[in-house]
Amino acid sequence: MGTRGVVRGQAPDALQNRGATGVAAPPREHEGNMGHEVHINIDGQDLSLPVVEGSEHEKALDIGKLRAQTGYITLDPGYVNTGACQSSICFIDGEKGILRYRGYPIEEIADQACFLETAYLLLYGELPTQSQLDGFRVSVKERAEVPSALGKLCEAVSSDAHPMSVLASMVNALSSYGRDWRKPTVEEQREKAIRDLLGKLPTVAAMAFRRSRGLDPIAPRADLPYAANFLNMMFGEVNLKVAEALDKILILHADHEQNCSTSTVRIVGSSEANLYASIAAGICALWGPLHGGANQRVIEMLETIHNSGDGPDPFVDKVKDKTSGVRLMGFGHRVYKNFDPRAKILKKACDEVLATLGIEDPLLDIAKSLEKTALEDEYFISRQLYPNVDFYSGIIYRAIGIPTNMFTVMFALGRLPGWMAHWRELHEDPARRIGRPRQIYTGPTQRKMTPIGQR
Ligand code: CMC
Repeated sequence: MGTRGVVRGQAPDALQNRGATGVAAPPREHEGNMGHEVHINIDGQDLSLPVVEGSEHEKALDIGKLRAQTGYITLDPGYVNTGACQSSICFIDGEKGILRYRGYPIEEIADQACFLETAYLLLYGELPTQSQLDGFRVSVKERAEVPSALGKLCEAVSSDAHPMSVLASMVNALSSYGRDWRKPTVEEQREKAIRDLLGKLPTVAAMAFRRSRGLDPIAPRADLPYAANFLNMMFGEVNLKVAEALDKILILHADHEQNCSTSTVRIVGSSEANLYASIAAGICALWGPLHGGANQRVIEMLETIHNSGDGPDPFVDKVKDKTSGVRLMGFGHRVYKNFDPRAKILKKACDEVLATLGIEDPLLDIAKSLEKTALEDEYFISRQLYPNVDFYSGIIYRAIGIPTNMFTVMFALGRLPGWMAHWRELHEDPARRIGRPRQIYTGPTQRKMTPIGQR
């Protein structure tokens, strides 16, 4: 590299700019505090980069003028060091294992709130009062019915189609209905679309499941809580205790700041695509095995270990052998480098749900011994790899009777409020611009074309 870059930082002052939070349209509580600068020298040219500091003291260099003033861009595969936006929805401290929604610790929310309350908090910035929650619940539930013609879409796909492909297609197809609420730039239409999709996603997911089994859909029931209604639409009956456990799982998945699918929703939304199209894109991003698809892969992995009868050790050896290409699914996280607080809650919930249902699952024993083996192994210790949210969730889904290929759909149901909160925040940000990264081109420089007969 021919460039000599010098970075000199300056200590930040105390935080300022804390603002009020409105419920209808929450401003960011703490507009990133600017006022400090870092000076860099590129090819002999001095440049001051403003430091932006968040309400939890995370710091970023604002490189908005970097290319215009120096011709340089930054290169950051996987966006490991790149902040794509300022957001007031979710805070994670991966080193300390902290996850908070709008300032509230995940442990407290999972313990005290219900899923729709959590959705309201993520979307509007404050916990609802009882009457706000009641109104929200009614407006979501009254939109739960989906056009019956949508069922034809399920019939049109291959009978062994993965439910995530059906879910993404059906959500996208929903944008063809309700033409009066498709404009993301109109606040009233945004709000209608948000409640519409929150109401309809469980119906669509259950419909896709039943159609794949050749069963008729079951209509949504407004008298049941959100998760209970979903289970009833899946199986035609519901155990309310189990529904409560599912509600908690949905809360644990509800948001996780700028992960792969949420970033996808934001980037699609930034082109002013409607909510349904943006969420359909997020569903596709979630499907991959390194993201939400890991929950399905965890169970498949545990089944493989169980069927082998050899215990976890040979599998762990295979994972450590880099030539095998095998990963320990449900382990590791881009942000958490200590523990994933969601996995802790889920491990406990796993024991509770299985006890409630009187189920003994050998896969739970394998999961626990796999976790123990990995947490004592130098390979995993040195790379800071711990169980993540997907490690134990599948065992609960299995106990509830949800088929393995529906696990990632369950993740999508939980993540919906987070996706929509970020989509909403994006549209309320006056500084919003279409997402359009740059690249460093490594292909051939200009060359001359030869006609096809001479090649
Ligand atoms: N098993 C074995 N080795 C692993 C694993 C794993 N699960 N995860 C990371 N590593 C190793 C990796 O090989 C690398 O080793 P080395 O430094 O020797 O090359 C090192 O740890 C760092 O891994 P990375 O791939 O650079 O880390 P990342 O931050 O890019 O990836 C991850 C994060 C979640 C994709 C990855 O840990 C992984 O593939 N985990 C398994 C899939 C999984 O459980 N995904 C669900 C994530 S949580 C829910 C969600 O957000 O969707």
